[in-house]
Amino acid sequence: MVQGRFHDPVLVAEIVAFLVRRPGIYVDGTLGGGGHSLAFLRALREAGYSEQSLLTGIDQDSAALEEAARTLRGYEEHSVLVKGNFQDIEAIITAVCGNKGLKPRVAGILLDLGVSSFQLDTPERGFSYLREGPLDMRMNSDAPLSAGDIVNSYEEKELARLIYRYGEEPGSRSIAKAIVAWRQKNGSVNSTKELADLIRRNAYGGEKVIKTLSRVFQALRIEVNGELDVLRRALCDGIDCLDDYGRMAVISYHSLEDRIVKTVFAEKARSDWGPKGVAMREPLAYGTVTLVTRKPLTASVEEIEANPRARSAKLRIIEKIPRKDHHE
Ligand SMILES: C[S@@+](CC[C@H](N)C(=O)[O-])C[C@H]1O[C@@H](n2cnc3c(N)ncnc32)[C@H](O)[C@@H]1O
Repeated sequence: MVQGRFHDPVLVAEIVAFLVRRPGIYVDGTLGGGGHSLAFLRALREAGYSEQSLLTGIDQDSAALEEAARTLRGYEEHSVLVKGNFQDIEAIITAVCGNKGLKPRVAGILLDLGVSSFQLDTPERGFSYLREGPLDMRMNSDAPLSAGDIVNSYEEKELARLIYRYGEEPGSRSIAKAIVAWRQKNGSVNSTKELADLIRRNAYGGEKVIKTLSRVFQALRIEVNGELDVLRRALCDGIDCLDDYGRMAVISYHSLEDRIVKTVFAEKARSDWGPKGVAMREPLAYGTVTLVTRKPLTASVEEIEANPRARSAKLRIIEKIPRKDHHE
């Protein structure tokens, strides 16, 4: 493991200001090192809400849970940390609230998507083309599929499709071809460095090489962790768990994630007026949320200077419309 900070959370002040407005149940679905959770718990304490509040932190990475437990020392009475996938957010909230005798109606949910700096910077986790390590990329080390399994077993066409779909890499076909040719000659691709060198040799030159490397590594990471598949479900189920006026905030770091967040939020905000051309007095179904942010919020220049990772962060927030209002 590399020495240094585990993870610097982004847009903390904005998220606390938008989400923490009353006592209640709060869920951090991407606990990481616990930076955002700590800010929630501090804000709840400062407002005198601690006694009526509970924070549930979820992460699928055991190393994150260990770090978060250290970060949140002193707040044990008001927090529960769970190893799990946020796609099971509803079941996790129901179980945690059931154990505490609370109704599973949530005041605030945060999803800070992607990987932490710790995961990226730890060579043994295999997330980065900048560090030599095994081709792993699993956030949950108990998961069955690693990046090595994909690189060494997928057919050329499947590889090309995934690099194009999840990496939006225009040269996906030639990269896939080069991987398969390497496998035929050498047996397998065995490390992040081997893969990165192979990509470098087969990408167009200059600045584009770095882009191609990050796109291919992003594509593999998304496939390994099923990142886009779990996101839609987590957003829909999370919204169902929100209490009246409860809020959900999502930070995404690339366009594929942001597109899903934007689409789901827009769908949930829209009332269903039935087929076009049919005049209706009221909709078949009312929207269940309002958009708190019409356009995504981004980090300030100062924050980006202090924490370059904040550069690509996009924050979207919705608020649950009270149930009674759906029928007014
Ligand atoms: C960007 S980091 C979050 C950092 C955190 N906000 C903080 O302040 O330290 C994303 C974290 O979410 C976790 N994660 C990503 N997808 C997940 C999923 N589907 N279920 C559970 N945890 C997930 C990762 O393991 C990682 O620790």
